[in-house]
Amino acid sequence: MVLSIRSLRDQSPYLPLGDKHDAPFYGKDILSVRQFDRDNLAYIFAIADEMQEMVRRVGTFDLLKGKILANLFYEPSTRTSSSFTSAMERLGGSVIPINEVRYSSVSKGESLPDTIRTLECYADVIVLRHPETGSAALAAKYARKPIINAGDGTGEHPTQALLDLYTIAAELGHLDGLTVTMLGDLKYGRTVHSLARLLSLFGAKLNYVSPDLLRMPVEVMEEVAGKGILQAEYNTLDEVLPETDVLYVTRVQKERFTDPEAYEAVKGSYVIDSAIMEAAKQDMIVMHPLPRVGEISMDFDDDPRAAYFRQMEYGLYVRMALLAMVLGKA
Ligand code: ASP
Ligand code: CP
Repeated sequence: MVLSIRSLRDQSPYLPLGDKHDAPFYGKDILSVRQFDRDNLAYIFAIADEMQEMVRRVGTFDLLKGKILANLFYEPSTRTSSSFTSAMERLGGSVIPINEVRYSSVSKGESLPDTIRTLECYADVIVLRHPETGSAALAAKYARKPIINAGDGTGEHPTQALLDLYTIAAELGHLDGLTVTMLGDLKYGRTVHSLARLLSLFGAKLNYVSPDLLRMPVEVMEEVAGKGILQAEYNTLDEVLPETDVLYVTRVQKERFTDPEAYEAVKGSYVIDSAIMEAAKQDMIVMHPLPRVGEISMDFDDDPRAAYFRQMEYGLYVRMALLAMVLGKA
């Protein structure tokens, strides 16, 4: 009988003593939001709530003492990289930071599978950001330790979508039946690909506002439509802003364009500011995965509806929950 690397990993000799082997998501990869249903989302968010409470009360505690995270980033990051570091350290664990692969053996030509096989000798979990779609799944094929996808090209950014959903629940008090308007680069923006899929579990109405060049990919729309979700596409925001509960703004992903002129043509297509937001409800929120490069004017930052900085903080609690779960401590 031929055993795959994955089936070997699932056998007990590889599972460290003292971990909760029957815990949901123990030893699992987090590659796509397709892995989640409403029940396990509720479970993750309940743990994130506890993490938030613990950070507030004690700051740092020893749940993951002795565990090591490898943070492997082939693309720039501020939030994802540093929030995973903070999450691990607040849980008492430690981090191998490879935030600039230029200084690692990747620059000598080492392949992703070999880099992964190296890091898992030294770490218990690997967080990977990579410019190629499918790279996290590829890494997971070779790894015996959990891989967490921190953004794979234009594919997905599942932990961002989890923190986005957690933000919406925390800010608006519920997730069901919301009208969510996604604005900007829906073609290359991986965060909206993940978020649209997750929201389809909650009967959301989804509006997509983008230039023609940057429309939501058909495969994402078809998947979401399969869940019976109402979706509509627009070029301008004015028609849908008044009904919007969540306005999710995105950056035009300059690094994904092969033609610089095409980028020039669509950059700056939308700028949210206080004047535009007069047409929106008072009990709605504006989110952005960040970084922003002009899509939201700083004059809106003090508006209570501007949730994008709070959103970043929620990410810490969600990532603490995910690390505790995949390492068998939650
Ligand atoms: N930080 C997010 C990502 O890595 C969004 C962005 O970069 O615009 O996908
Ligand atoms: N939201 C997000 O992924 O931010 P970074 O690119 O800074 O990690």
